[in-house]
Parts: sequence; structure tokens; C-alpha cells
Amino acid sequence: MKVISQIKLPVQKEMELFEKKFFESMSSKVALLNRITHYIVNRKGKQMRPMFVFLVAKMVSNGNVNERTYRGASVIELIHTATLVHDDVVDDSNRRRGFFSINALWKNKIAVLVGDYLLSKGLLLSIDNNDFDLLKIISVAVKEMSEGELLQIEKARRLDITEDIYYDIIRQKTATLIAACCSLGAASVKPDSDEVTKMRKFGELIGMAFQIKDDLFDYGTEKIGKPTGIDIKEQKMTLPLIYTLNKVSKKERDWVINSVKNHNKDRARVKEVIEFVRNNGGLDYAVKRMKEFQKEALLILEDYPRSEYRDSLELMVNYVIERKK
Ligand code: IPE
Ligand code: IPE
Ligand code: MG
Ligand code: MG
Repeated sequence: MKVISQIKLPVQKEMELFEKKFFESMSSKVALLNRITHYIVNRKGKQMRPMFVFLVAKMVSNGNVNERTYRGASVIELIHTATLVHDDVVDDSNRRRGFFSINALWKNKIAVLVGDYLLSKGLLLSIDNNDFDLLKIISVAVKEMSEGELLQIEKARRLDITEDIYYDIIRQKTATLIAACCSLGAASVKPDSDEVTKMRKFGELIGMAFQIKDDLFDYGTEKIGKPTGIDIKEQKMTLPLIYTLNKVSKKERDWVINSVKNHNKDRARVKEVIEFVRNNGGLDYAVKRMKEFQKEALLILEDYPRSEYRDSLELMVNYVIERKK
């Protein structure tokens, strides 16, 4: 059995019902919007975030979920989808999940509006059902994600990013939403409990590992359903590059910075930079840091008694760093 199916097993029923509810949560009276949301749901991603919501909810409550858990999972996936649609505009990327991105097919204008629509549908789903505690968790994440993406742009312009700022960026743009998944999962079944804070930390650690893995993909040549090698093109300096810049000679550093600044659309030059990073241990270093986040996350799980849900979450933490897409 594929590991992702194995992870899903204890929440299989919930995930099936979730998919139905998720699709319904997007519907609109505008035909163009419906065409696009159909396009989106027919090309679904790994759905790791709703899985985190259900697995955490069940782990902390010995197997209970409720309507709040379902709504929470839908809201999170709606927001995740909205940010992907927006992110592909920001990164000028034409592929997503193995197909054309929304901006590639319908242009930026429409992608921006569709992203806004999905975001507002997510927030309304919480508001209409008085899930204000969950809405609070989600709104913090939405705010932080925008800040994270903007901080990233600011750093890309000045090319002066440090390792600590890199962690700030990925904490905000990615880890915060996975943190929200886990704390929301706990809050949906045990409001105001200590588990909510603890699971938030757990999700944040996984989220950090998750984005480092994503950034490593960009340095590879594997088929992952979206373009690779575009981070340097967008002047996005991620951990492998930051590490490399800190350890090489001034002359080499000047060459790399000059490449990222002035030759970032030159594919051969970008390839050379990628090779340079690889040869200087930049990828190995990122893997090492990723595994440290993974280990810390696993440690938190050890506080919980063994159950099929905890086992799945453990597998999930490992899947985050071993996944092929
Ligand atoms: C992609 O997230 C965006 C990042 C935060 C790196 P996923 O890799 O979870 O995307 P899908 O939903 O599976 O396509
Ligand atoms: C993801 O960063 C951050 C989001 C909040 C979407 P990336 O720009 O690296 O994500 P991908 O690689 O496009 O999925
Ligand atoms: Mg992107
Ligand atoms: Mg990426």
C-alpha cells in the first residue's frame, strides 16, 4: 500500500465526506467561477492539511470528530487553495499539480479574483456557523501568510537574506497554516485545552520541514507537478543558497549574487548556480536542518499514548520529508 493511503486509513471516512463538503463549499452562481472551481477540484493536491486536521482531532479525543472539524478542514483547504492560486501569480508560474495553473489558463486578473473568492468563502464558512474560535486561528494564519510572502519579496529585492530571516519567512508563509490545521483540529473537539497550543507547535515544526523540502525540490530535476528551478529565477534565496553564500569565498559569493541579480533569466547560468550550491553542500545542509525540525515534531507526539491516529501522524511527519511531490 502506498504510504499516503496508509496514513489516510484511520480518517478515510472523514476524508471522503470532506471532499464532498469541500466541493460544495466553493459553489457560486457565476458560471465562470464554477467552471474554474471545477477545474481546481478535479486536480486535487495531496490534501495533507485536512488530513492533519482530522488526525489531530481524533488523536486528542480518542477518535471523535464533529461538524466543526469538517468545517475547519474545508476552511483550511479553501485558504490553502486560494494562496496557491495567488502564489502562482506572484511567482509567475504556469504549472500546478501537473496541469496549467489558473493564471496560465485564465490570466492574472481572473486568478487574483478567484483567489479572493475562495478566501472569502472560507472565512464565511466559519462566520456563518459561529465558529469564532476557529476563525481566530484561521485569520491569524491568513495574516501571517501574506506577511510572509511580502517579506520574501522584500528580501528578494535586496538579496540580503540571512538564515534566520529565511526561517521567519517560511514560518509565516507555510508553517503557520499547518500549525493552524493542527491547533484547529484540537480546538474543534477540545476547545480551550492545552492540546490546542501543543498541537500548534507540532504543526509549526512540521510546516518548517515541509517548506524546506519544497525548497529542495526546486533544486532538483524530478517531476513534481510544478516547475523546478524557478526560485532563483524569481530571486528567491532559499536555505541551500543561503548556506552556500555564507561558506564560499568573496569572489565566489560575488559571482553567485551577480548571477541571481543580473542573470536570473539565463537558464544555463541558473543551472550553474544550482550545481555550485549542490557541490558546496547546500542541499545536504538543508536536509540536515529539515530533519532537525522533523525530530522535534516527533518528540511532541511521544507525549501522546499510542493509537492508530498517532501512528498515522508519525508516518505523516516522515512523509513530509520523504515525499516525491
Ligand atoms: C504547496 O503545498 C505550497 C507550499 C506551501 C509549499 P502542497 O505541496 O501541500 O500543495 P498541494 O495541495 O499538495 O498541491
Ligand atoms: C509556497 O511557497 C508558499 C505559499 C504560501 C503558497 P512556494 O512559492 O515555494 O510554493 P510553490 O513551490 O509555488 O508550491
Ligand atoms: Mg510558488
Ligand atoms: Mg516552491
